[in-house]
Parts: sequence; C-alpha cells; structure tokens
Amino acid sequence: TPGRTDGARGLRFAAVAPNKDDKVTVPEGYSQNVVIRWGDPILRGAPAFDADNQTAKAQAGQFGYNNDFLSLLPLHGEHGRQILVANHEYTDEILMFRGYDAAKPTREQVEIAWAAHGLSVVVVQEEHRSGKLTPVGRHPLNRRLTATSEFKVTGPAAGSALLRTSVDPTGTKVLGTLNNCAGGTTPWGTTLHGEENFNQYFANGSSATDKRYGIGTAATERKWELFDKRFDLKQEPNEAHRFGWVVELDPYDPDFTPRKRTALGRFKHEAAQPRLTDDGRPVVYMGDDERFDYFYKFVSSKQMKKGNSRSAREHNRTLLDEGTLYVAKLTGDSPAAEIDGTGKLPNDGEFDGSGIWIPLASGDKSFVPGMSAEEVYIFTRLAGDKVGATKMDRPEDVEPSPRTGRVYVALTNNTDRGKPGKAAADEANPRNLNKHGQILELAENWDDPAGDGFAWRLFLVAGDPNDPSTYFAGFPKDKVSPISCPDNVAFDPYGNLWISTDGNQLGSHDGLFGVATHGERRGELKQFLTVPSGAETCGPIIQDRRVLVAVQHPGELDGASVEKPASVWPDGPGKIVRPSVVSVWRKDGRDIGV
Ligand code: FEO
Ligand code: CA
Ligand code: CA
Ligand code: CA
Repeated sequence: TPGRTDGARGLRFAAVAPNKDDKVTVPEGYSQNVVIRWGDPILRGAPAFDADNQTAKAQAGQFGYNNDFLSLLPLHGEHGRQILVANHEYTDEILMFRGYDAAKPTREQVEIAWAAHGLSVVVVQEEHRSGKLTPVGRHPLNRRLTATSEFKVTGPAAGSALLRTSVDPTGTKVLGTLNNCAGGTTPWGTTLHGEENFNQYFANGSSATDKRYGIGTAATERKWELFDKRFDLKQEPNEAHRFGWVVELDPYDPDFTPRKRTALGRFKHEAAQPRLTDDGRPVVYMGDDERFDYFYKFVSSKQMKKGNSRSAREHNRTLLDEGTLYVAKLTGDSPAAEIDGTGKLPNDGEFDGSGIWIPLASGDKSFVPGMSAEEVYIFTRLAGDKVGATKMDRPEDVEPSPRTGRVYVALTNNTDRGKPGKAAADEANPRNLNKHGQILELAENWDDPAGDGFAWRLFLVAGDPNDPSTYFAGFPKDKVSPISCPDNVAFDPYGNLWISTDGNQLGSHDGLFGVATHGERRGELKQFLTVPSGAETCGPIIQDRRVLVAVQHPGELDGASVEKPASVWPDGPGKIVRPSVVSVWRKDGRDIGV
C-alpha cells in the first residue's frame, strides 16, 4: 500500500511535499501518462504536430492550447471508452512560435491562435486495469470548436439590439468562443463552458460598460483587431457583448451548434456548475473571477426529462433558457469590529453567517431598478453593483457536494482587499491584501437549491499552516499540507473535495489537493500532485481509478520564450513546452486513495 494509510477513505496516499521540480510529481506508488498534448491530431486529416511548421489548418484539427476545464462523459456501446471534453482558455504566442515578434504578429500566427482557442471533444480509450488513457484519433465524435466556429445565442437576450453587428444583424449568431476557463457537466449529458477574460481580445473600448468589464481603450497585446475588424470596438462596438457567456455543448451530437445561454448572465464566467432541485429543475452556480466581483446562481423554471430519447434531449436543450438569475449577498454573524483584516478568528470561532439570493431578472422581467431585463443579462456586473451584492475575493470554480448538498466556492485571492478606496475585509473575505485565498462552504436553506437564502462559513483559509491567519475547518494544522490560491474544485466518489491551485504564493509549484469535508477528518488537507515550472493545475476529475488534471501554461514565466524555455515538460530538453492533460493512477491497480 503506498504511503500512509491514515487519511479519510479516498485520501490514503503519502502527501506530495511542496517542490519546484519541472515535472508532474505524484505520490509514491502512483503512475501517470500524458493523455493528450497541445497539437496532437484528433480530427480526420489532421497532421502530426510539427512545432516549427505549424499552420492554422493543422491546428484546427489538433488539440488546442492551454487546456483548462475537463469533463469525462460515458460512451455507451464502446467498451472502455469515454468522451473527454476540454477547454482551451488562451494562447501563449511567445511559447508557441520561435522568434515571435509581439509587435508584428503574422496572419498565420494569429489564425493559429484562433484555432488553438475554444473546445476539444476527443474520445479516449482506457487501458485494461489501469488509469491510463489514450486518445482515439479520428473518432466520429471528435470535434474542435475554435474562435471562428459558429455559436447560437439563445435565451431572453438573444436578438437584442445590443448583440447585433454588421455581420450578424440578427444578434443570434456568433463566431467563436474565447477564454473558456472552467465549466461543468450537466445531468442531461451536456457540458458548460465559462467565457472568462474575454476583455483582452477587444481593442478600443469606450463605453462605461466596456470599462466595467475591463476592456481597454487602446490596441490589444494580441493585435487580432488588425486581422479581423470585429475585434476593434470602434468599428464593431457590440462584438464584445457577444462574449462573456456560458456556452452549452452537446458532446454526443457533432452536428449540434453550441449555445451561448444569455439567461445565465454575462460576466467573466469562471465556471458553471449545475445540480437539480428535488423536482428536477437545474440550478447553476457561477463565479465571476475578478477581485471584488460576485457569485451568482441561475434557477431554471423547467424540469429535466430523464432518459436519452430524442425528445428528452431536445427538451433538455432548452432548460437553461428559462428561469431566474440571482446574485449572492452575504452577511457575517460576528460584530464587524471583530473582523480586523488579519484573518484572526472572531469570538464565535468561525467566519460564518447567512446570505440571500437577490433576483436580478427572470425572462423579460427585470428586478433591477433602472435596467431592462436585456441590460441585466448583458451587463450583469452593473446589475450586481446596483443591488449591493457582496464583493468577493475572486469567485472561481464551484462544486456542490454530491453527498451533503453543501456548495464549495473557491475564492482564489485578492491582493487589493483593504487597499485605499477598495472594500475592506468582511467576514466572508476576512483578510486584507489576501494573497492565498479561501474556500467558502454554502448550505442552501432547507437544502433547497432553488431557495432564496443560505447559511455559509469558511471551510479553508489558505496559506502556510504555520501562518496564524490560516484555518483548516478546525483540523490540527500540523497535519495538513500548505495550500495557496485555490481555483478549481471537484468531488471524488467518497465526498472528499479536491482543489487545484493557480499562482501558489508559498514558493512551491501549483498542485492538486484532497480534503475531507465531513466526519472527524474534515479539514485534513493532503497534497496529491504538483505540476511543472510555470504551470497552473486545472480541470481535476477524480474517478475511482484515475485522477485527471489539465497542466495549463507550463513554462509561462517572465522572460521565457521558445528560445529560452522555463520548462521542458512534457517532451524533454530541446522540445517545445506543451500544455497537456495527465492521468494518474495506482500502480497496484486499486482505487485512488483507498
Ligand atoms: Fe481562468 Fe479564473 O481562471
Ligand atoms: Ca481557473
Ligand atoms: Ca462568526
Ligand atoms: Ca485561474
């Protein structure tokens, strides 16, 4: 049996120590393989990857760059196979192209970047009695969606004058999805993909709403506006309104045009995590990953139909178009004077309190004074501002526990908290200049996901356990791994929460951790793996037999380039660094962590 066996079931492995090794480090007794890398061909006719002769045409049939969210869906009728869906959040041109000149990108480089964004669908094959996965090239379900693929806009804001452009006077047909960060898998067999930092692709913003969304007023770093005028808001002012949505994809249907769901609002969507009410209506939790931005949920008014019939699938494709969008307001239960910004626990021993879900809009009805429903959906951040939602420390990924129903929200960090002119610490965001982040645990009233109120408490306050401002649900701090900047979250089959990190501020590489959320080991956090130099750990999936992670932006460190790599992962010295998906499993063939 590898390592120590005294963890919670599912977490019985020898914790990996913090390190700065340029590789994926896994616990003793575990193996790994690189499942798929940037540039690996997945569509019929796509060539093998050739870093020095890459073309946009080749890239459009190959796995994209900077894999982030991952989903694995069952593939019935094909033994030992699953469908892997991956987000490709953004491109790192300086690490992709030898001799890249940021002042003068070529059209081919820009078109490669367009084709390296978006989503991939690729069938993967399991190896008998191990966790190893390999891609099945040219499978009929394999698919690429890119920055130029067609998407359909649906829901209450579809067709709005604010979404119309010279190319699309209907306001319903968008080319491309951008900056797909995290996401979710629905109970009806589709995947959701958050469009996050879309602001960076648009030049010459001028409106107050552009500003609220972080769109700059000058040229962009990528200079796409020189190659397609829709990225120049001076020429096409509404184009940016067509990004910042949650995208729904049906990986089982290669002919399905993916949807941009306007009922779920427009912001820097980190993720979209669904669950069902007792009567079968989907509720989707969503974070807006920006310092001082908000946490949201959408409650559908329609019930999911069970089964895989054609009529059930068609019905379920409409679930996310009708319902109510809410934003969270949290109130602490301790006196404000006891929240001093250092992370010192208040006298009741917990950062905790209650919260309400403030309705913003439902169908064509707005609940926000001075804003139409269309405006609420398209400028959702401004709606949150108007109703006084709680300014959070970068709400990222979210996951409800399949065991307890409690919802876990990763709040990555907020180094601006408490700075002059910025919101100071509150009970849910209790540290000023917050470098390490925290994880909030939210329990809906009566355990009803559609309810309008909730209780909350901080589950983890991250950092070095020797730092007095940290908190591990009350578990003894000498028995936990250090953690910094929680980002993506997932549950294993035993109800343990797994957390991947982005931007570790403790001098180690980023990694993946597991922690018990109930029972006497609640709060016992253990590190499962670390990733290579410059990389962020994304997309964790914990199955019985395997742990899957997306190693995003390996080698992305100041001053690094193809010529001066900061990482040689995964292919070794002399080879270009490649973001990749990795599977980890136990050498003895038994389940993870038992
Ligand atoms: Fe793309 Fe918020 O991480
Ligand atoms: Ca993320
Ligand atoms: Ca309290
Ligand atoms: Ca992140």
